[in-house]
This record gives sequence, C-alpha cells and structure tokens, in this order.
Amino acid sequence: MATSIPADRVPDMGKRQLMNLLLLGAVALPSTGMLIPYTYFFVPPGSGSATGGTVAKDALGNDVLADQWLKAHGPGDRTLTQGLKGDPTYLVVEKDRTLATYGINAVCTHLGCVVPWNAAENKFICPCHGSQYNDQGRVVRGPAPLSLALAHCDVDDGKVVFVPWVETDFRTGDAPWWA
Ligand code: FES
Repeated sequence: MATSIPADRVPDMGKRQLMNLLLLGAVALPSTGMLIPYTYFFVPPGSGSATGGTVAKDALGNDVLADQWLKAHGPGDRTLTQGLKGDPTYLVVEKDRTLATYGINAVCTHLGCVVPWNAAENKFICPCHGSQYNDQGRVVRGPAPLSLALAHCDVDDGKVVFVPWVETDFRTGDAPWWA
C-alpha cells in the first residue's frame, strides 16, 4: 500500500524546476571547468593561429616579430627559428629585405642532423655526412635523398607564422614528400 506524502510537504512545480536548475548548474559547472584543460591538453602549444599555423619562436623562445626580425637580419640571411611541430626552421630574408614566403626545415633528409647555413658557400651543408642543399634547401649533393622540407611563412598581426606546405614543391615541381 502506497503511503501518501502530505500535500504541504510536496514542493510545488516552480520550486521543483528551480531545484532542477540548481542541480544542473552544480553538475555542469565543474564538468565544464574540467573539460577546458582536458581540451587544451590535446591542442599543441603555439597553434593558436586561425590559419592553423604556428607562430615562429626565436632562440629565446619569444614570438618572432617580422619588423624587428628584418631590422636585425639583413638580405640573404638564413637564421633558425622554431617552426611547425617544434622543428628547427630557417627564416629566409630575401635580397629586397622582405621575408621569403617559405621557411626551410633544417632537418637533414638523410639521417636527421640539423643542417647549418654556410653563407660563404651559399649552401646548407650537413656536418654529419656532407649532404648539400642550395640556398632554397634543394638537395644538390647526397647522400641526402630529398630536398629540405618547406613551410609557408606568413605574417599575421606582425608575427611570423609558419603554415604547413601541402602544395607542389616549387623547387622541384614534385608533390611535397613531407605532406
Ligand atoms: Fe645529413 Fe647524413 S644526416 S648527410
């Protein structure tokens, strides 16, 4: 036999809705609070650009500002920055003192050494096994089998941004091996 609850003990509909809303808030707020760091965990640092790019970082880990960079780096300069996925990537200053629209990934396509720029030879020359790349990173001497990877280099709100290069490699006319 069911026992009935006295009518004065049953909350009216308004109170019940209010209590449901409070309960929902009590559950939803902490859940949302936990979801935000959880989501951030899966977003790599420095990938906040709307273009899907990565802001270049200098040797100190600061964002590279195009204006300041061009004041400090003259025509023909190739200096390493931190690029996509943290890869060492050369920023290229063209002869007309503008930034090239491409960056050059410094990881040797032979066995992965970081390839230094040799301004006197106008080439990238790998210290590990002697591979050479021209001033745009196109391989000109093995044992490296492939040219250095490219990234697009854009300026967004004054900052240098690398964006994945998925189009034809303009140096070889081939599909990009790295994409
Ligand atoms: Fe560069 Fe071997 S790793 S030539």
